[in-house]
Amino acid sequence: MTAPHFTPRVFSGIQPSGGLTLGNYLGAIRRFVEMQDRGGFETIYCMVDLHAITVWQDPEALRKNTRELCAGFIAAGIDPEKSILFNQSQVPEHAQLGWIFNCVARMGWMARMTQWKDKAGKNSENASLGLFAYPALMAADILVYHATHVPVGEDQKQHLELTRDIAAKFNHDYGVDFFPLTEPVIEGAATRVMSLRDGSKKMSKSDPSDMSRINMTDDADAIAKKIRKAKTDPEPLPETAEGLADRPEARNLVNIYAALSDLTVEQAMAQVGGQQFGQFKPMLADLAVEKLAPISGEMARLMEAPDEIDAILARGAERARELASPILQRTYEIVGMVR
Ligand code: TYM
Repeated sequence: MTAPHFTPRVFSGIQPSGGLTLGNYLGAIRRFVEMQDRGGFETIYCMVDLHAITVWQDPEALRKNTRELCAGFIAAGIDPEKSILFNQSQVPEHAQLGWIFNCVARMGWMARMTQWKDKAGKNSENASLGLFAYPALMAADILVYHATHVPVGEDQKQHLELTRDIAAKFNHDYGVDFFPLTEPVIEGAATRVMSLRDGSKKMSKSDPSDMSRINMTDDADAIAKKIRKAKTDPEPLPETAEGLADRPEARNLVNIYAALSDLTVEQAMAQVGGQQFGQFKPMLADLAVEKLAPISGEMARLMEAPDEIDAILARGAERARELASPILQRTYEIVGMVR
């Protein structure tokens, strides 16, 4: 349980390491908007550019992707007045607390992270030290605000468990109740959107095949084509949600349909159960275009005024630092640094 003295505060981040995908939108950004609008939380959303450079990023592309991600947040409904919206490198407290957490986290904890194993692969000797330490910086992102809730897709669950381990070890080692044990918020029909080409792989901005994902900048034709060509099996959709259990591609498309129409999977199956893919896919494509086209249009409009985006990020960073700075200072005192 989160200790009661922590203000209900939401933090989450997305890497500006490529374009936004439908997975980021349904698994993360839609929930960010919902938590912003629900009330009762302070909401803080971050473009984690320091995380992005744990693997090589072309500098110009990183700048463009950071601005485009900011445009994506706003186009999808994040209001930079209601929420704090900023990029990580403008708030040095993240990296500063990250260093302290590098000294709290254990090598063994990091080595068990599946994202590290997937990304470093067999060539871990050649991976950056930053990639290995990545989850300690992520814990710092969250805990430098004493955030209590973190909405994410399912792939981040293990990192959030590690965040709790770091908070607990810090509190234990220094005999304090200083950092909250943050709650992951992994909710909705699309916490794990899969590749459109392979139902066993996550939809990802780094997949070499563009047909495997829907990008938030895709136009209506591209969206429709990708859904039409999405891999499926030859059977029609089952009548009930249970029938999707061993049919990963069918399940993925139904999950996407449910999430886009704000339904549970059961409710979605009441509408589309038993349909042939020849009927279901065009309906899904129309729905996706209807929901996503206004966002990509708005993103393109915002990208025409990069100065305005930069001003929003600068203002967000200022507000973020007001929260982060006292928490970092207090951490230094707890650790024994002379201030
Ligand atoms: P990243 O940039 O890979 O993804 C951003 C968010 O999108 C979610 N997501 C998905 N959800 C459902 N289906 C998918 N196919 C899919 N792909 C991505 C992710 O779960 C995530 O919520 N380590 C984080 C970034 C981060 C962070 C943080 C998150 C850094 N610091 C602090 C939360 C709190 C990452 O790489 O996300």
